[in-house]
Amino acid sequence: MQAINASIGFDRKMWRQDIRGSLAHAAMLSRVGIISSADEAAIRQGLEAIAARIEAGDFPWDEALEDIHMNIEARLTEAIGEAGKRLHTGRSRNDQVALDVRLWVRDAIDGLTGQIEDVMRALVEQAEAQAGTVMPGFTHLQPAQPTTFGHHMLAYVEMLSRDRGRLADCRKRLNESPLGAAALCGTGFPIDRHMTAEALGFDGPTRNSLDAVASRDFAAEFLFACAMCATHLSRFAEEVVIWTSPYFGFVKLSDAFTTGSSIMPQKRNPDAAELVRGKTGRVMGALIGMLTVLKGLPLTYGKDMQEDKEGLFDAAETMTLCLAATAGMVRDMKPDAARLREAAGAGFSTATDLADWLVRELKMPFRDAHHVTGRLVAKAEAKGTDLAGLTLAEMQAEEPRITDGVFGVLSVEASVASRACYGGTAPENVRRMAAEWRERLA
Ligand code: ARG
Repeated sequence: MQAINASIGFDRKMWRQDIRGSLAHAAMLSRVGIISSADEAAIRQGLEAIAARIEAGDFPWDEALEDIHMNIEARLTEAIGEAGKRLHTGRSRNDQVALDVRLWVRDAIDGLTGQIEDVMRALVEQAEAQAGTVMPGFTHLQPAQPTTFGHHMLAYVEMLSRDRGRLADCRKRLNESPLGAAALCGTGFPIDRHMTAEALGFDGPTRNSLDAVASRDFAAEFLFACAMCATHLSRFAEEVVIWTSPYFGFVKLSDAFTTGSSIMPQKRNPDAAELVRGKTGRVMGALIGMLTVLKGLPLTYGKDMQEDKEGLFDAAETMTLCLAATAGMVRDMKPDAARLREAAGAGFSTATDLADWLVRELKMPFRDAHHVTGRLVAKAEAKGTDLAGLTLAEMQAEEPRITDGVFGVLSVEASVASRACYGGTAPENVRRMAAEWRERLA
Protein backbone atom coordinates (compact mmCIF):
# COMPACT_ATOMS: atom_id res chain seq x y z
CA MET A 1 0.00 0.00 0.00
CA GLN A 2 2.72 2.45 0.93
CA ALA A 3 4.57 1.86 -2.33
CA ILE A 4 1.57 2.55 -4.52
CA ASN A 5 0.10 5.27 -2.32
CA ALA A 6 3.08 7.50 -1.61
CA SER A 7 3.75 10.48 -3.86
CA ILE A 8 6.55 12.07 -1.86
CA GLY A 9 9.08 10.69 -4.37
CA PHE A 10 7.85 13.20 -6.91
CA ASP A 11 5.51 15.74 -5.29
CA ARG A 12 8.33 17.06 -3.11
CA LYS A 13 9.12 19.17 -6.18
CA MET A 14 6.20 21.35 -5.01
CA TRP A 15 7.64 22.13 -1.57
CA ARG A 16 8.01 25.82 -2.28
CA GLN A 17 4.40 26.09 -3.44
CA ASP A 18 3.17 24.04 -0.47
CA ILE A 19 4.91 26.29 2.03
CA ARG A 20 3.80 29.46 0.23
CA GLY A 21 0.20 28.22 0.44
CA SER A 22 0.46 27.29 4.12
CA LEU A 23 1.94 30.68 5.02
CA ALA A 24 -0.96 32.46 3.33
CA HIS A 25 -3.49 30.11 4.96
CA ALA A 26 -2.03 30.59 8.45
CA ALA A 27 -1.89 34.37 8.07
CA MET A 28 -5.58 34.36 7.08
CA LEU A 29 -6.57 32.02 9.94
CA SER A 30 -4.97 34.39 12.41
CA ARG A 31 -6.40 37.52 10.77
CA VAL A 32 -9.98 36.23 11.04
CA GLY A 33 -9.39 34.97 14.59
CA ILE A 34 -9.48 31.21 14.00
CA ILE A 35 -5.95 30.81 15.40
CA SER A 36 -4.00 33.17 17.66
CA SER A 37 -1.31 35.46 16.32
CA ALA A 38 1.21 33.62 18.52
CA ASP A 39 0.30 30.36 16.77
CA GLU A 40 0.60 32.07 13.41
CA ALA A 41 4.07 33.36 14.28
CA ALA A 42 5.15 29.90 15.42
CA ILE A 43 3.82 28.37 12.20
CA ARG A 44 5.57 30.98 10.08
CA GLN A 45 8.92 30.48 11.81
CA GLY A 46 8.52 26.73 11.70
CA LEU A 47 7.75 26.73 7.97
CA GLU A 48 10.65 29.05 7.27
CA ALA A 49 12.98 26.70 9.12
CA ILE A 50 11.63 23.77 7.11
CA ALA A 51 12.16 25.67 3.87
CA ALA A 52 15.77 26.30 4.86
CA ARG A 53 16.31 22.63 5.65
CA ILE A 54 14.83 21.50 2.34
CA GLU A 55 16.91 24.07 0.50
CA ALA A 56 20.01 22.78 2.27
CA GLY A 57 19.14 19.21 1.35
CA ASP A 58 18.82 17.93 4.90
CA PHE A 59 15.09 17.48 5.29
CA PRO A 60 14.17 13.94 6.40
CA TRP A 61 11.66 12.93 3.73
CA ASP A 62 9.56 10.00 4.89
CA GLU A 63 7.59 7.77 2.54
CA ALA A 64 5.41 6.64 5.44
CA LEU A 65 4.09 10.22 5.56
CA GLU A 66 2.81 9.75 2.01
CA ASP A 67 3.10 13.14 0.37
CA ILE A 68 4.58 16.63 0.50
CA HIS A 69 1.66 17.98 2.54
CA MET A 70 1.90 15.41 5.34
CA ASN A 71 5.70 15.47 5.37
CA ILE A 72 5.79 19.20 5.97
CA GLU A 73 2.89 19.28 8.44
CA ALA A 74 4.29 16.40 10.49
CA ARG A 75 7.76 17.99 10.76
CA LEU A 76 6.19 21.33 11.58
CA THR A 77 4.26 19.81 14.46
CA GLU A 78 7.38 17.96 15.63
CA ALA A 79 9.20 21.30 15.73
CA ILE A 80 6.57 23.67 17.14
CA GLY A 81 4.01 21.38 18.82
CA GLU A 82 0.31 22.26 19.24
CA ALA A 83 0.32 25.25 16.84
CA GLY A 84 1.40 22.98 13.99
CA LYS A 85 -1.69 20.88 14.49
CA ARG A 86 -3.91 23.94 14.05
CA LEU A 87 -2.57 24.77 10.55
CA HIS A 88 -4.92 22.40 8.73
CA THR A 89 -8.08 24.05 10.14
CA GLY A 90 -10.56 24.84 7.37
CA ARG A 91 -8.39 23.14 4.77
CA SER A 92 -8.00 19.70 3.22
CA ARG A 93 -5.25 18.08 1.24
CA ASN A 94 -7.66 18.24 -1.68
CA ASP A 95 -7.70 22.02 -1.94
CA GLN A 96 -4.09 22.12 -0.79
CA VAL A 97 -2.85 19.94 -3.64
CA ALA A 98 -5.07 21.76 -6.15
CA LEU A 99 -3.45 24.98 -4.97
CA ASP A 100 0.10 23.61 -5.08
CA VAL A 101 -0.29 22.30 -8.62
CA ARG A 102 -1.76 25.61 -9.79
CA LEU A 103 1.08 27.56 -8.22
CA TRP A 104 3.61 25.13 -9.70
CA VAL A 105 2.15 25.43 -13.20
CA ARG A 106 2.00 29.22 -12.86
CA ASP A 107 5.68 29.32 -11.92
CA ALA A 108 6.52 26.97 -14.79
CA ILE A 109 4.64 29.21 -17.23
CA ASP A 110 6.64 32.23 -16.07
CA GLY A 111 9.94 30.38 -16.49
CA LEU A 112 9.11 28.89 -19.88
CA THR A 113 7.80 32.22 -21.18
CA GLY A 114 11.19 33.81 -20.52
CA GLN A 115 12.89 30.92 -22.28
CA ILE A 116 10.62 31.09 -25.32
CA GLU A 117 11.43 34.78 -25.55
CA ASP A 118 15.12 33.95 -25.46
CA VAL A 119 14.76 31.57 -28.43
CA MET A 120 12.74 34.24 -30.24
CA ARG A 121 15.49 36.77 -29.61
CA ALA A 122 18.12 34.36 -30.94
CA LEU A 123 16.04 33.79 -34.09
CA VAL A 124 15.60 37.54 -34.56
CA GLU A 125 19.38 38.00 -34.30
CA GLN A 126 19.89 35.43 -37.07
CA ALA A 127 17.10 37.02 -39.11
CA GLU A 128 18.77 40.43 -38.92
CA ALA A 129 22.16 39.00 -39.85
CA GLN A 130 20.75 36.88 -42.70
CA ALA A 131 17.90 39.07 -43.99
CA GLY A 132 19.36 39.04 -47.51
CA THR A 133 20.82 35.52 -47.55
CA VAL A 134 18.86 33.72 -50.25
CA MET A 135 18.02 30.07 -49.72
CA PRO A 136 15.62 27.62 -51.32
CA GLY A 137 12.06 27.70 -50.05
CA PHE A 138 10.48 24.26 -50.07
CA THR A 139 7.09 22.66 -50.33
CA HIS A 140 7.02 18.85 -50.13
CA LEU A 141 10.77 19.25 -49.43
CA GLN A 142 11.06 19.98 -53.18
CA PRO A 143 12.55 23.27 -54.37
CA ALA A 144 9.68 25.75 -54.69
CA GLN A 145 10.70 29.42 -54.71
CA PRO A 146 13.72 31.28 -53.40
CA THR A 147 13.33 32.76 -49.94
CA THR A 148 15.79 34.15 -47.40
CA PHE A 149 17.33 32.59 -44.34
CA GLY A 150 16.07 35.55 -42.31
CA HIS A 151 12.49 35.05 -43.46
CA HIS A 152 12.73 31.38 -42.53
CA MET A 153 13.95 32.28 -39.01
CA LEU A 154 11.09 34.74 -38.55
CA ALA A 155 8.56 32.04 -39.44
CA TYR A 156 9.60 30.27 -36.23
CA VAL A 157 9.42 33.54 -34.29
CA GLU A 158 5.73 33.74 -35.26
CA MET A 159 5.08 30.15 -34.14
CA LEU A 160 6.85 30.69 -30.83
CA SER A 161 5.01 33.92 -30.22
CA ARG A 162 1.72 32.00 -30.47
CA ASP A 163 3.10 29.40 -28.05
CA ARG A 164 3.92 32.24 -25.69
CA GLY A 165 0.37 33.55 -26.14
CA ARG A 166 -1.13 30.14 -25.38
CA LEU A 167 0.83 29.99 -22.11
CA ALA A 168 -0.33 33.50 -21.25
CA ASP A 169 -3.97 32.51 -21.90
CA CYS A 170 -3.54 29.44 -19.75
CA ARG A 171 -2.05 31.55 -16.96
CA LYS A 172 -4.99 33.93 -17.08
CA ARG A 173 -7.53 31.12 -16.83
CA LEU A 174 -5.75 29.19 -14.07
CA ASN A 175 -5.22 32.24 -11.91
CA GLU A 176 -8.02 31.53 -9.40
CA SER A 177 -7.38 30.19 -5.93
CA PRO A 178 -8.90 26.83 -4.95
CA LEU A 179 -7.75 27.26 -1.33
CA GLY A 180 -10.70 27.10 1.05
CA ALA A 181 -12.71 24.67 -1.07
CA ALA A 182 -11.45 22.27 1.62
CA ALA A 183 -12.29 18.60 1.02
CA LEU A 184 -14.96 19.39 -1.57
CA CYS A 185 -17.83 21.43 -0.08
CA GLY A 186 -16.04 24.38 1.47
CA THR A 187 -15.90 24.87 5.24
CA GLY A 188 -18.02 26.18 8.10
CA PHE A 189 -15.10 28.12 9.55
CA PRO A 190 -15.32 31.85 8.83
CA ILE A 191 -12.27 31.77 6.50
CA ASP A 192 -11.57 34.58 4.02
CA ARG A 193 -10.84 33.02 0.65
CA HIS A 194 -10.43 36.42 -0.98
CA MET A 195 -7.61 37.23 1.41
CA THR A 196 -5.60 34.08 0.65
CA ALA A 197 -6.30 34.44 -3.07
CA GLU A 198 -4.90 37.95 -3.05
CA ALA A 199 -1.91 37.03 -0.90
CA LEU A 200 -0.98 34.30 -3.40
CA GLY A 201 -1.28 36.56 -6.44
CA PHE A 202 -4.56 35.13 -7.75
CA ASP A 203 -7.27 37.25 -9.34
CA GLY A 204 -9.77 35.83 -6.84
CA PRO A 205 -11.06 32.55 -5.37
CA THR A 206 -12.66 29.83 -7.53
CA ARG A 207 -16.46 30.07 -7.50
CA ASN A 208 -17.38 26.41 -6.96
CA SER A 209 -15.75 24.24 -4.31
CA LEU A 210 -16.48 20.96 -6.14
CA ASP A 211 -14.90 22.26 -9.32
CA ALA A 212 -11.95 23.62 -7.35
CA VAL A 213 -10.81 20.23 -6.07
CA ALA A 214 -11.91 18.14 -9.08
CA SER A 215 -10.41 20.10 -11.97
CA ARG A 216 -7.05 19.92 -13.65
CA ASP A 217 -7.97 21.32 -17.04
CA PHE A 218 -5.48 24.13 -16.37
CA ALA A 219 -2.76 21.47 -16.28
CA ALA A 220 -4.04 19.83 -19.48
CA GLU A 221 -4.15 23.22 -21.15
CA PHE A 222 -0.60 23.94 -20.03
CA LEU A 223 0.50 20.57 -21.41
CA PHE A 224 -1.13 21.30 -24.75
CA ALA A 225 0.68 24.62 -24.95
CA CYS A 226 3.92 22.76 -24.14
CA ALA A 227 3.21 20.00 -26.66
CA MET A 228 2.50 22.57 -29.38
CA CYS A 229 5.68 24.45 -28.56
CA ALA A 230 7.66 21.18 -28.48
CA THR A 231 6.22 20.39 -31.91
CA HIS A 232 7.48 23.70 -33.25
CA LEU A 233 10.90 23.10 -31.74
CA SER A 234 10.85 19.61 -33.25
CA ARG A 235 10.15 20.93 -36.74
CA PHE A 236 13.01 23.35 -36.37
CA ALA A 237 15.25 20.58 -35.04
CA GLU A 238 14.32 18.41 -38.01
CA GLU A 239 15.38 21.21 -40.35
CA VAL A 240 18.68 21.56 -38.51
CA VAL A 241 19.25 17.82 -38.94
CA ILE A 242 18.54 18.11 -42.68
CA TRP A 243 20.48 21.34 -43.18
CA THR A 244 23.61 20.07 -41.42
CA SER A 245 23.70 16.88 -43.50
CA PRO A 246 26.57 17.30 -45.99
CA TYR A 247 24.14 16.47 -48.81
CA PHE A 248 22.46 19.78 -48.01
CA GLY A 249 25.32 21.66 -46.33
CA PHE A 250 23.10 24.67 -45.60
CA VAL A 251 24.35 25.36 -42.06
CA LYS A 252 27.20 24.34 -39.82
CA LEU A 253 26.98 23.68 -36.10
CA SER A 254 30.11 23.90 -33.97
CA ASP A 255 31.42 21.15 -31.72
CA ALA A 256 29.39 22.75 -28.93
CA PHE A 257 26.17 21.27 -30.36
CA THR A 258 27.42 18.20 -32.20
CA THR A 259 29.14 15.00 -31.16
CA GLY A 260 31.63 12.68 -32.76
CA SER A 261 31.29 8.96 -33.20
CA SER A 262 33.13 6.40 -31.11
CA ILE A 263 34.05 4.53 -34.29
CA MET A 264 33.76 6.87 -37.29
CA PRO A 265 36.34 9.65 -36.92
CA GLN A 266 34.77 11.92 -39.56
CA LYS A 267 31.38 12.23 -37.83
CA ARG A 268 29.64 15.39 -36.64
CA ASN A 269 26.26 14.36 -35.43
CA PRO A 270 23.57 16.95 -34.63
CA ASP A 271 22.60 15.20 -31.38
CA ALA A 272 21.11 18.25 -29.68
CA ALA A 273 18.68 18.75 -32.57
CA GLU A 274 17.86 15.06 -32.66
CA LEU A 275 17.12 15.05 -28.94
CA VAL A 276 14.88 18.11 -29.19
CA ARG A 277 13.01 16.23 -31.92
CA GLY A 278 13.03 13.00 -29.94
CA LYS A 279 11.89 14.44 -26.61
CA THR A 280 8.73 15.90 -28.13
CA GLY A 281 6.98 12.57 -27.63
CA ARG A 282 7.36 12.75 -23.85
CA VAL A 283 5.52 16.07 -23.75
CA MET A 284 2.75 14.80 -26.02
CA GLY A 285 2.51 11.70 -23.87
CA ALA A 286 2.09 13.80 -20.74
CA LEU A 287 -0.86 15.62 -22.33
CA ILE A 288 -2.58 12.36 -23.24
CA GLY A 289 -1.78 10.97 -19.78
CA MET A 290 -3.41 13.96 -18.09
CA LEU A 291 -6.55 13.80 -20.21
CA THR A 292 -6.78 10.08 -19.56
CA VAL A 293 -6.58 10.58 -15.78
CA LEU A 294 -9.49 13.01 -15.95
CA LYS A 295 -11.79 11.45 -18.52
CA GLY A 296 -13.46 8.83 -16.34
CA LEU A 297 -13.36 10.56 -12.96
CA PRO A 298 -16.67 11.24 -11.24
CA LEU A 299 -16.66 14.45 -9.19
CA THR A 300 -14.83 15.34 -7.12
CA TYR A 301 -11.35 14.25 -6.05
CA GLY A 302 -10.13 10.72 -6.78
CA LYS A 303 -6.69 9.41 -5.97
CA ASP A 304 -6.20 8.95 -9.71
CA MET A 305 -5.50 12.68 -9.64
CA GLN A 306 -2.20 12.04 -7.91
CA GLU A 307 -1.14 10.79 -11.36
CA ASP A 308 -1.37 14.38 -12.66
CA LYS A 309 2.12 15.20 -11.46
CA GLU A 310 4.94 13.13 -12.92
CA GLY A 311 4.03 13.76 -16.55
CA LEU A 312 3.45 17.41 -15.78
CA PHE A 313 6.82 17.86 -14.09
CA ASP A 314 8.63 15.87 -16.75
CA ALA A 315 7.00 17.86 -19.55
CA ALA A 316 7.96 21.20 -18.00
CA GLU A 317 11.53 20.03 -17.36
CA THR A 318 11.76 18.67 -20.89
CA MET A 319 10.61 22.03 -22.25
CA THR A 320 13.23 23.82 -20.18
CA LEU A 321 15.95 21.61 -21.67
CA CYS A 322 14.68 21.78 -25.24
CA LEU A 323 14.22 25.56 -25.22
CA ALA A 324 17.73 26.05 -23.82
CA ALA A 325 19.24 23.69 -26.40
CA THR A 326 17.33 25.39 -29.21
CA ALA A 327 18.40 28.88 -28.15
CA GLY A 328 21.99 27.62 -28.08
CA MET A 329 21.76 25.99 -31.50
CA VAL A 330 20.17 29.03 -33.13
CA ARG A 331 23.00 31.22 -31.90
CA ASP A 332 25.60 28.61 -32.88
CA MET A 333 24.29 28.02 -36.41
CA LYS A 334 26.46 29.34 -39.27
CA PRO A 335 24.60 29.43 -42.58
CA ASP A 336 26.76 28.78 -45.68
CA ALA A 337 25.61 31.69 -47.87
CA ALA A 338 27.32 30.45 -51.06
CA ARG A 339 25.86 26.97 -50.76
CA LEU A 340 22.41 28.37 -49.93
CA ARG A 341 22.51 30.65 -52.96
CA GLU A 342 23.54 27.83 -55.24
CA ALA A 343 20.73 25.64 -53.90
CA ALA A 344 18.26 28.54 -54.12
CA GLY A 345 18.78 28.73 -57.90
CA ALA A 346 18.46 25.01 -58.51
CA GLY A 347 15.24 23.21 -59.43
CA PHE A 348 13.89 26.02 -61.67
CA SER A 349 12.97 27.90 -58.52
CA THR A 350 12.19 31.12 -60.42
CA ALA A 351 9.62 29.47 -62.71
CA THR A 352 6.80 31.27 -60.87
CA ASP A 353 8.60 34.58 -61.50
CA LEU A 354 8.68 33.77 -65.22
CA ALA A 355 4.96 32.95 -65.25
CA ASP A 356 4.19 36.15 -63.31
CA TRP A 357 6.25 38.13 -65.88
CA LEU A 358 4.13 36.71 -68.74
CA VAL A 359 0.98 37.75 -66.90
CA ARG A 360 2.28 41.23 -66.10
CA GLU A 361 4.04 42.12 -69.36
CA LEU A 362 2.00 40.18 -71.95
CA LYS A 363 -1.35 40.31 -70.14
CA MET A 364 -1.51 36.55 -70.49
CA PRO A 365 -4.07 34.76 -68.26
CA PHE A 366 -2.17 33.08 -65.40
CA ARG A 367 -3.23 29.55 -66.39
CA ASP A 368 -1.81 30.03 -69.91
CA ALA A 369 1.37 31.54 -68.48
CA HIS A 370 1.68 28.45 -66.27
CA HIS A 371 1.55 26.21 -69.38
CA VAL A 372 4.09 28.27 -71.36
CA THR A 373 6.45 28.29 -68.37
CA GLY A 374 6.05 24.54 -67.98
CA ARG A 375 7.17 24.06 -71.57
CA LEU A 376 10.15 26.37 -71.05
CA VAL A 377 11.16 24.43 -67.92
CA ALA A 378 11.02 21.17 -69.93
CA LYS A 379 13.14 22.78 -72.65
CA ALA A 380 15.75 23.99 -70.14
CA GLU A 381 15.78 20.61 -68.45
CA ALA A 382 16.41 18.90 -71.80
CA LYS A 383 19.21 21.37 -72.53
CA GLY A 384 20.71 20.74 -69.09
CA THR A 385 20.51 24.36 -67.97
CA ASP A 386 18.40 26.60 -65.74
CA LEU A 387 15.79 29.02 -67.12
CA ALA A 388 18.28 31.86 -67.52
CA GLY A 389 20.40 29.51 -69.64
CA LEU A 390 17.81 29.48 -72.45
CA THR A 391 18.40 31.93 -75.30
CA LEU A 392 15.78 34.53 -76.17
CA ALA A 393 15.21 32.69 -79.49
CA GLU A 394 14.55 29.43 -77.63
CA MET A 395 12.00 31.20 -75.46
CA GLN A 396 10.36 32.94 -78.41
CA ALA A 397 9.90 29.56 -80.08
CA GLU A 398 7.37 28.86 -77.31
CA GLU A 399 5.94 32.40 -77.02
CA PRO A 400 7.00 34.89 -79.70
CA ARG A 401 6.06 37.99 -77.64
CA ILE A 402 8.71 37.30 -74.96
CA THR A 403 11.38 40.05 -74.86
CA ASP A 404 14.80 40.02 -73.20
CA GLY A 405 13.24 41.94 -70.33
CA VAL A 406 12.30 38.50 -69.02
CA PHE A 407 15.90 37.79 -67.96
CA GLY A 408 15.52 40.50 -65.32
CA VAL A 409 13.18 38.31 -63.23
CA LEU A 410 15.00 34.99 -63.48
CA SER A 411 17.69 35.55 -60.82
CA VAL A 412 17.07 34.47 -57.24
CA GLU A 413 17.93 37.97 -56.01
CA ALA A 414 15.29 39.53 -58.26
CA SER A 415 12.83 36.88 -57.18
CA VAL A 416 13.14 37.50 -53.44
CA ALA A 417 13.29 41.30 -53.87
CA SER A 418 10.04 41.25 -55.84
CA ARG A 419 8.07 39.54 -53.07
CA ALA A 420 7.57 42.74 -51.14
CA CYS A 421 3.90 42.33 -50.23
CA TYR A 422 3.16 42.49 -46.50
CA GLY A 423 4.58 39.33 -44.88
CA GLY A 424 6.53 38.47 -48.04
CA THR A 425 10.08 37.21 -48.38
CA ALA A 426 11.77 40.43 -49.64
CA PRO A 427 14.92 41.30 -47.64
CA GLU A 428 13.62 44.81 -46.89
CA ASN A 429 10.49 43.23 -45.37
CA VAL A 430 12.56 40.81 -43.33
CA ARG A 431 14.66 43.66 -41.98
CA ARG A 432 11.58 45.62 -41.01
CA MET A 433 9.88 42.64 -39.34
CA ALA A 434 13.04 41.66 -37.49
CA ALA A 435 13.36 45.22 -36.18
CA GLU A 436 9.74 45.16 -35.03
CA TRP A 437 10.28 41.88 -33.20
CA ARG A 438 13.49 43.12 -31.63
CA GLU A 439 11.61 46.07 -30.22
CA ARG A 440 8.67 43.96 -29.03
CA LEU A 441 11.04 41.55 -27.25
CA ALA A 442 13.20 44.25 -25.67
N1 ARG B 1 -0.93 13.31 -2.71
C1 ARG B 1 -2.27 13.65 -3.07
C2 ARG B 1 -2.35 14.06 -4.53
O1 ARG B 1 -1.33 14.31 -5.09
C3 ARG B 1 -2.75 14.75 -2.22
C4 ARG B 1 -4.23 14.80 -1.99
C5 ARG B 1 -4.63 13.65 -1.17
N2 ARG B 1 -5.98 13.74 -0.80
C6 ARG B 1 -6.64 12.68 -0.32
N3 ARG B 1 -7.85 12.84 0.04
N4 ARG B 1 -6.04 11.51 -0.17
O2 ARG B 1 -3.39 14.11 -5.14
